Parts: sequence; structure tokens; C-alpha cells
Amino acid sequence: EGQVFTYDPGFTSTAACDSTITFIDGDKGELLHRGYPIDQLASESHYLEVCYLLLYGDLPSAEALEDFENRVTNHTMLHEQMMNFFRGFRRDGHPMAIMTGVVGAMSAFYHDSTDISDEWQREVASIRLIAKMPTIAAYAYKYSIGQPFVYPRNDLDYASNFLRMCFAVPAEDYEVNPILSRAMDRIFTLHADHEQNASTSTVRLAGSSGANPFACIAAGIACLWGPAHGGANQACLEMLEEIGSVDRIPEFIERAKDKSDPFRLMGFGHRVYKNHDPRATVMKESADEVLSLLGVENNPKLQVAKELERIALEDDYFVSKKLFPNVDFYSGIILEAMGFPTSMFTPIFALSRTVGWISQWKEMIGDPTQKIGRPRQLYKGEPMRDYVNVEDR
Ligand code: SDX
Repeated sequence: EGQVFTYDPGFTSTAACDSTITFIDGDKGELLHRGYPIDQLASESHYLEVCYLLLYGDLPSAEALEDFENRVTNHTMLHEQMMNFFRGFRRDGHPMAIMTGVVGAMSAFYHDSTDISDEWQREVASIRLIAKMPTIAAYAYKYSIGQPFVYPRNDLDYASNFLRMCFAVPAEDYEVNPILSRAMDRIFTLHADHEQNASTSTVRLAGSSGANPFACIAAGIACLWGPAHGGANQACLEMLEEIGSVDRIPEFIERAKDKSDPFRLMGFGHRVYKNHDPRATVMKESADEVLSLLGVENNPKLQVAKELERIALEDDYFVSKKLFPNVDFYSGIILEAMGFPTSMFTPIFALSRTVGWISQWKEMIGDPTQKIGRPRQLYKGEPMRDYVNVEDR
């Protein structure tokens, strides 16, 4: 009670902003959401309760949680005209391209919640985004495989609804496997927010100009797509596939250490965590649990991942540079075992992170002293010089 987290002046002078939402201690491998440790939230709570916590600052009462879950559930459908928007994309387009486009287009379909000066509109836009992102991600997947869209249902929880929209087909009944639903919800929670990472900073910078929340979240999705950020979960599974077997690990470890080789261990390293990523610890336990419950505990990619982690954490290069598995190292193994193609891994990260993006956006917009972001630079170009006509060059 009353504990104050402080940093030496050097750190605060480089802080991008004040925030009360998420706290990371990279040296200890600590991640708190509104003060609650991520491992407790992942095991004791569930995603929509964590959404409430991130948005409003504390855990909800039973009735407040029921009201919030009802509001989200009743906004999961998309405006029917948006279906035309999906059909304008090439079928082989990456689902992240579709999500970026469709979420940006929400500014046109839901323009009654784009006035950021109106607190009620900010609230409606936040609920709409959290509610509709699973539907948008599922529709992007269905479109890419040529299957009909499956509408959300109000009698299913958030994770079960998403799994059903992705994997059900009109021709037969679909029962959500509770093992997969619990694992899906935990993955959502582990990705919910992470302080001022690249995509959240993108959302804040876009929002600082007064852009509407749908446009800001579309900017965050675009940034998250990069393989150095949210695209790492797809890149990591592709790396594990390329390694193929444990006897090939040393070859890739050496490549990752070779500065002349662009290869990096995907799912390894972090700008902030220099001890361990607490999310990776929970994700590894979840991978063991889910794959054994599904009867695929001998999945070769899981074996390669565990051996790769063991070898790397005994290697001076990785130990000296404090490189550990991050949130993306094991997540793809679980998602693949659940039936998702690698192209859906980052869209799942994006839908999970939407609550973090929108909570941080609301926090910023709600601060009357906030100004437009305007980073400066160190100019290293030409000194002032006079123009030379082309005939004299
Ligand atoms: C996410 O910011 C967040 O919070 C992001 C995130 C979130 O929840 O929003 O946590 C999600 O983006 C996790 C990171 C996912 N990306 C990957 O897994 C891609 C692989 N990792 C790297 O590209 C890298 O580790 C980064 C991008 C994550 C961090 O890069 P940095 O900041 O350059 O890492 P660093 O400064 O700690 O690197 C120290 C050294 C460097 O070598 P030197 O210049 O000192 O010689 O370690 C090297 C790096 O080249 N290094 C790696 C490596 N990661 C860093 N070498 C081999 N393999 C790696 N994965």
C-alpha cells in the first residue's frame, strides 16, 4: 500500500508518457496490470475481466462485470454493409492487411462514435472495438479460406465465440472444446497490454493529433504486424519448422550469433525484459498443458522449442546479452495445435492487444494537459547550401 515506483532521473527523462495502466520491471521480469501480476491474472481471472481492469482501473464487482460482459456481447456483430468491404480484398491477402483496412474503415461505418471530445462516444467506441475485433479477425480468416462467415452468438463467452466463428461451418454442428476455449482466453489475457511498446506508442502518437479511435487502432495493427514486434509469433513458428529437429539447433544458434547473418532467434530477446518475460513462462506451461490434453505432447516443434531454449540459455552469447524467450516463443505452438494457420497468429495478438491500445488511448485523451506528440531528431544531413540550376550541376 502506498508503494511508489521510482526510477533514477536518467530513466524518467526518457519516459514517453505517464501511465497508471501497466508496470514492467525488466530486470526482475515483473509485469503488473493496475498492480495485479500477470501470472495471477492469467490463472485466476479471464480476458473480459482483465479488459475491465485495464479500462477502468480496478477489478469489477460481480454485477459490474456482468454488465460489462453484456455490453461487449451485444456489440460483437458487424454492420452488414462491411461484408462488401471484406469481399474487396484478394483472397490470398494476409489477414493482418484485412484487419488494418477493416478497422480503419470502422471510422466510416461507426462515425457516431468518432467524436473524441464526447466521453460517451469514447466509451462506445472502446466497447465496439473490443467486441468486434474477434469478429473481424474470424471473418478475415474465413474469407482467406473461402468459407462463409459465421456470425457471433450471444450465448457464448468471448473466447468460445471467436473459436466458433473461426472453425464452425454452416453444414454441421460445432461444439467448442472447453480446453481450447480456456487456452484461447489465457492467450488473449497474456497479450492484453504491455506498456509503451511500438504499437501502443503508435496508437498514442496517432491519438495525440485527435484522430478517431478506429483510425488510431488501425495504425497500431499496422505497426504490430512487423516481425520484430507482433509478427514474431508467426516468424517463430516458421523458424521452428525450418529448424525441424533438435540436431539442427546448433547450426541455427551459430547463425543467430553471426552478425553477418540476418537470422535472429524469433521469439527471443526483448527491449525491456533482461531477466525473463513472465508471459513466456505462463505460455510455456500452457503449451505443455494444452498439447498434452490434446494428445499431441510429442509435437516436434514443442520439443525443438524447449531444446532451443535450453541450449540458448546455456550459451554465453545469449546469457551475456540477456536474451530470453519472450511472449511469442511458445504462443504459436499452442495456436497451431488449436488449428490456426500461422497467418492468424498476429491477428490474434492484435485482437488481444486492442484493449491495451484503447485503454492507453483513453488515458491519454482523458488528460486535459496532453499535447500532440512531436518527437525531434538528431540532424546529421548537409549544412545549409544554395540551390544550383540543373545546367550548372
Ligand atoms: C514483442 O515492446 C514490447 O513490449 C513488445 C512486446 C509486446 O508485448 O508488445 O513484448 C511484443 O514485440 C516481443 C518481441 C518479439 N520479437 C521477436 O521475438 C523478434 C526477435 N527479437 C529481436 O528482434 C529483438 O530481441 C527485439 C526486437 C525484440 C529487441 O531488439 P533489441 O532492442 O535490439 O534487443 P537488444 O537491444 O536487447 O539486443 C541486444 C543484443 C543486440 O546485439 P548487439 O548489437 O548488442 O551486438 O542482442 C542481439 C541484438 O542484435 N539480439 C539478438 C536477438 N535479439 C537481440 N540476437 C539473436 N537473436 C535475437 N532474437
